[in-house]
Amino acid sequence: MSSHNSSELQVLCSSGQLLLQPLWDRLRTSKVPIQSPFFPVIFAIVTYLGFCLPFVVLDFLSPWVPALRRFKIHPDFSPSVQQLLPCLGQTLYQHLVFVFPVTLLHWLCSPSLLPPEAPELLQLLRDVLLCLLLFDGEFFVWHVLHHKVPWLYRAFHKVHHQNPAPFALATQYMSLWELFSLGFFDMVNITLLRSHPLTVLTFHVLNIWLSVEDHSGYDFPWSTHRLVPFGWYGGVAHHDLHHSQFNCNFAPYFTHWDRILGTCGLHPPGVQW
Ligand SMILES: *[C@@H]1O[C@H](CO)[C@@H](O)[C@H](O)[C@H]1NC(C)=O
Ligand SMILES: [Zn+2]
Ligand SMILES: [Zn+2]
Repeated sequence: MSSHNSSELQVLCSSGQLLLQPLWDRLRTSKVPIQSPFFPVIFAIVTYLGFCLPFVVLDFLSPWVPALRRFKIHPDFSPSVQQLLPCLGQTLYQHLVFVFPVTLLHWLCSPSLLPPEAPELLQLLRDVLLCLLLFDGEFFVWHVLHHKVPWLYRAFHKVHHQNPAPFALATQYMSLWELFSLGFFDMVNITLLRSHPLTVLTFHVLNIWLSVEDHSGYDFPWSTHRLVPFGWYGGVAHHDLHHSQFNCNFAPYFTHWDRILGTCGLHPPGVQW
């Protein structure tokens, strides 16, 4: 009976693996040198700027396209070049001067081997969701602490609050300590779980996308917080309000921690739930 069950389970699992195998084979054998010491930092920069770019273009267009402004949380705000350039400059500077040496050190200490087998789809989804929840909780604690303790706020978190109306490129406008804390929360659990490299990659891409969406200033009908049921995901509506009000919505993505602690902010006017 139990052997019957376990073989059924195996079939189910390997079919999930078969789904991802072609993708993994292509990645593994592609010309993209995923095992190069330069890959992590270049990947982080390219993914981040790639996700920001559409919003930068939309912000340039929005003064001329009224239809676009309907989706903006601050309809009349568009970042100026003088606001965009420091953000871009700081991201490149921090990644090249600080993130690169750290990822290089990590590469030297633990060279990763790429397994020939793809991960199982269900396991990938489970690990990614679990790590997203852990990241959300870890950053929530960090974030509350850096708002409640005045010197922590002034020394480490104030920089990120320089833009009361956020825009995509302001996502990573933060102190070095905040960047490394976020990087640590992003890495620690997915590493501890010994996830498959494809799972790790998926989690990083999703995390970068969600953080950019949080700051984009655009609330589209397809924004993540409108796709997740029960208002469980706060996303751009919640995080944008955090930037204008400071005292609510400390969790970056989900709403459960702010609901439990009573720090869930009111939804901004005009945003339908
Ligand atoms: C996730 O990371 C935290 C530290 O940030 C650690 O306490 C926790 O045990 C980790 N969880 C898992 C499942 O690895
Ligand atoms: Zn904050
Ligand atoms: Zn923010």
